[in-house]
Amino acid sequence: MTDRTEAMSPLELYESLMAQGDKVRALKTAKADKTEIDAAVQLLLKLKVDYKQVTGQDYKAGSPPSESSVVHDNGPAADGADDEDTVDPWNVSTTNAKGVDYDKLIVRFGSSKIDKELVDRIEKVAGQKPHRFLRRGIFFSHRDMHQVLDAYEKNKSFYLYTGRGPSSEAMHVGHLIPFIFTKWLQDVFDIPLVIQMTDDEKYLWKDLTLEDCHRFAVENAKDIIACGFDVNKTFIFSDLDYMGSSREFYTNVVKIQKHVTFNQVKGIFGFTDSDCIGKISFPAIQAAPSFSNSFPQIFGGRKDIPCLIPCAIDQDPYFRMTRDVAPRIGYPKPALLHSTFFPALQGAQTKMSASDPNSSIFLTDTPKQIKNKVNKHAFSGGKDTVDEHRKYGGNPDVDVSFMYLTFFLEDDEQLEKIRQDYTSGALLTGELKKILIETLQPMIAEHQERRKQVTDEMVKQFMTPRPLNFKL
Ligand code: TYM
Repeated sequence: MTDRTEAMSPLELYESLMAQGDKVRALKTAKADKTEIDAAVQLLLKLKVDYKQVTGQDYKAGSPPSESSVVHDNGPAADGADDEDTVDPWNVSTTNAKGVDYDKLIVRFGSSKIDKELVDRIEKVAGQKPHRFLRRGIFFSHRDMHQVLDAYEKNKSFYLYTGRGPSSEAMHVGHLIPFIFTKWLQDVFDIPLVIQMTDDEKYLWKDLTLEDCHRFAVENAKDIIACGFDVNKTFIFSDLDYMGSSREFYTNVVKIQKHVTFNQVKGIFGFTDSDCIGKISFPAIQAAPSFSNSFPQIFGGRKDIPCLIPCAIDQDPYFRMTRDVAPRIGYPKPALLHSTFFPALQGAQTKMSASDPNSSIFLTDTPKQIKNKVNKHAFSGGKDTVDEHRKYGGNPDVDVSFMYLTFFLEDDEQLEKIRQDYTSGALLTGELKKILIETLQPMIAEHQERRKQVTDEMVKQFMTPRPLNFKL
């Protein structure tokens, strides 16, 4: 708790929070300096943490502390901390053409920035050049990564956990981001990995049959396996299969369910009285793989093995809840690495989404489809005419083709040259799109080739509960 607030009563803290919320709003209205706004938001956040420590409840503007006050956070903040960006597991949107303001999101979610120091440290501990996603700030935020590295340096290993909600047969390129990065982490740290396929979640949220969701889980597992995971170190599971077969996993789900109230999940996920009870209890199922004793066949019943979760920041609400409940049920909190969103073709105001085929490049797209989609739909930061473009240059900060290249072009120097040439006007939009098309086409074709090699037998192997090969 901060010194200043240590002696405050819950009501005093509540009043300070109200005043600080007003201050943030006033600064934003006055379009004050970004650092001033961020400092004010940071203090607001600290006060919220202190308030929670003192009252055991989350702060809600307009509800003074009382036994029945409702937990509230996430989504556009009622306190004015950020009213532009919506980021939760179901929606990502902003009015800013450059995309979500990730620095503000760090402040709002209370996570930490992946700064140069952390990237350097990962490089030192892993003994490898950092992945381009780290070098370029695509993985931009974390929780407790330093603790994971501290333990690793003392020869205490950890495991990785990530997942996929199988809502259709075809995954898009955005879905690959956490898996590409997780594969790198698995290779450089040489550690086990569990991948949850939440077919139950998709049945609860979408108009799909259970059979279809389970089938999509198996189909999507093929795309995930095609990323190159080591079968000796990776367990992929469908919730529908694993929940029924593992007493230990279900035991953890029930423990979590007992220690999280309806008010809490309402506050975190925005559930309403008309949501089915399956949705309300689902977050416990996504939380459970964060605890190593959910996998006795892998970890032999140990509950103390640290977990690191790579995912895009949209999944953070699940893990804020998980980290909150962990000490109450005697488990370590999972650490996290968060990525930014791979934007929709139409612009960074929203993320690539499987429900809009024109917003996405799918892993099943042909070279021709990729070319057409990029040429027709990729939002351009270029000028209207060639003359104007040559004279004034383009804007890579809002240009989707350039953004996509930052995710996939490995060569830092080449990327920087493209940025400079596009900004100066030497490189035209059509030329930039051509570079992107020529980067994506072989990448997707190679993925399709690797996926073809994934047999049903291999999927079965990955999805069978079994011991994995690693040293802890
Ligand atoms: P899902 O299927 O929506 O997404 C799978 C993973 O991809 C990330 N993601 C993206 N990353 C970058 N750019 C995008 N446009 C983009 N869209 C999605 C998601 O953050 C996720 O990491 N409930 C989860 C499944 C799940 C899970 C987990 C995910 C279960 N356990 C643990 C991460 C970690 C879901 O529906 O993901």
